[in-house]
Amino acid sequence: GSAMAQSSSRFAFEQISARTDSTVHVPNGYSWDVLVRWGDPLFSDAPEFDPATGIPTEGSDRVFGENTDGMELFSFKGHQLLAVNSEYTNNDTNLAHTEDGLPTSAEDVLRLQNFQGVSVMEVTEDADGWKVVIDSPYNRRIHHNTPMSLDGPAAGHDLLKTAADPSGTQSLGTFNNCGAGRTPWGTYLTCEENFNGYFGATGDMPTDEKISAGYDRYGINETGFDYNYHQFDPRFDVSTNPNEPHRAGYIVEIDPTQPDAVPVKRTALGRFKHENAATALAPDGRVVAYMGDDERGEFMYKWLSRDVYVPGGDTSTLLSEGQLFVAKFNEDMTGEWVALTPDATGMDAAEIAIFTRTAASAVGATTMDRPEWVAVNPTAVEAYCCLTNNSRRGATNDDGSVRSNAGGDEMTVNAPNPRKTNDYGQIVRWRPHGDNHAANTFDWDLYVMAGNPDVHTEGAYAGTANINAGNLFNSPDGMQIDSTGLIWIQTDGDDSNEGDFAGMGNNQMLAGDPVTGEIRRFLTGPNGSEVTGLTWSADKRTMFVGIQHPGGSFPDGEGSLPRSSIVVVKRDDDALVG
Ligand code: FEO
Ligand code: CA
Ligand code: CA
Ligand code: CA
Repeated sequence: GSAMAQSSSRFAFEQISARTDSTVHVPNGYSWDVLVRWGDPLFSDAPEFDPATGIPTEGSDRVFGENTDGMELFSFKGHQLLAVNSEYTNNDTNLAHTEDGLPTSAEDVLRLQNFQGVSVMEVTEDADGWKVVIDSPYNRRIHHNTPMSLDGPAAGHDLLKTAADPSGTQSLGTFNNCGAGRTPWGTYLTCEENFNGYFGATGDMPTDEKISAGYDRYGINETGFDYNYHQFDPRFDVSTNPNEPHRAGYIVEIDPTQPDAVPVKRTALGRFKHENAATALAPDGRVVAYMGDDERGEFMYKWLSRDVYVPGGDTSTLLSEGQLFVAKFNEDMTGEWVALTPDATGMDAAEIAIFTRTAASAVGATTMDRPEWVAVNPTAVEAYCCLTNNSRRGATNDDGSVRSNAGGDEMTVNAPNPRKTNDYGQIVRWRPHGDNHAANTFDWDLYVMAGNPDVHTEGAYAGTANINAGNLFNSPDGMQIDSTGLIWIQTDGDDSNEGDFAGMGNNQMLAGDPVTGEIRRFLTGPNGSEVTGLTWSADKRTMFVGIQHPGGSFPDGEGSLPRSSIVVVKRDDDALVG
């Protein structure tokens, strides 16, 4: 059949089937290729990737980082600059850690610190396809030791002061860079998610009540996620450096066009496990950023600037001066953005910025099923958030009480999170009242509840009407809406293809029509991988898609190590793909 669909459909492709193999698939009439793999050089002096030993410590900050995630492309003076997150390192593959899975020296730790953060790189297309421009003056690695400045209400607060930085305004590194965003003025927003995992204690945990309560809410403990940084880099040892974790968990603004510019941690946008940031402009020009906090039972947030954005004007206050809100969803399908003010929370402005989760709990925010990416529709005044799953929703403790988030807010089943032990996930959509993203109230609905109508022939686990045997998926996570309004949905879920997940295959990327609700599968990832991160070339004829933590031997084939990669997808007739 033809690669092009019926004219009545928004989609220019025919849906592909679910796959369980070790490569990438796209529809007929489209092709894909690898742009860059973890460990590929950004500079000509970078070490070469060795299939036996990976990348040595020396030069580990000169290569494309590991575990690609959120990304955005910026077009600047004829150059296409791709800013990409590298979220984390694998424990037991890719040779990032030593054989027992734990770094055992300061050198191991430094190597891991260099593999994560953000890569900025110039990319270009010629007759042979897309490639990284090695040694472009725009190429840059931002990692766990890159100098940053802290800005906003928390900057300079006692809780941010350390022996190395008594001012509390200068920190090193950005951590667990998950999703991303872009500002109307052309900067990149990288979002610090599971920052807690890098900290640990060689001695006693801090006893200060406020600090301990914060550690409990954000999951900071003696061991972290086995990065072992604290054993070899005292900055990450909370027994001697209790304030260092307060300097992570923010959104960081990076100017991809200025390789020497110091990234800025925007504390006004709150401290939590930031997934991504999706920006919009209110009709009066004020800047809105929607954000999710990805943990079971945590919340959705909105930033509203005090000042208006004027193209070419001063943008320095737009992510510093304004108001942070948290979402309350009502059962009647309305909702409210509740301002996190000192009056409402009983906390001062700096504490709201540092212990944002606590402030949000204080105003009775709605516990959500792990808010992952938010996306704003450029063709309608509406936005979407992937609520990926929540195995503990509606579950009970041994004493019969309902399970809570780490702040004690019960995760009772509620209207936007309507399923107990939610394995499949859903996407919530909201439309601000008055067609104004600055409005404090909105209407909401569920764009889709993923499910499996083959396994659960009736009831909520079958999913909504736009789920059918042909487009099964679970755990929506990454999301971008293209310039035509198509919703691109990426998954990070159970790829067992068995039981409740039968027929879903590997993680994948689908496209959704915001008007009809129709969803079609567009791309399948290699087994073991998550599909995360999506952006477009300046001419919208190429789509850049992230393949994170592949299993098998993707992309180089049998016998080679799996490497996270960015792939490019094009239409064979070179028409627009978004
Ligand atoms: Fe890094 Fe919530 O995904
Ligand atoms: Ca994610
Ligand atoms: Ca996820
Ligand atoms: Ca991931």
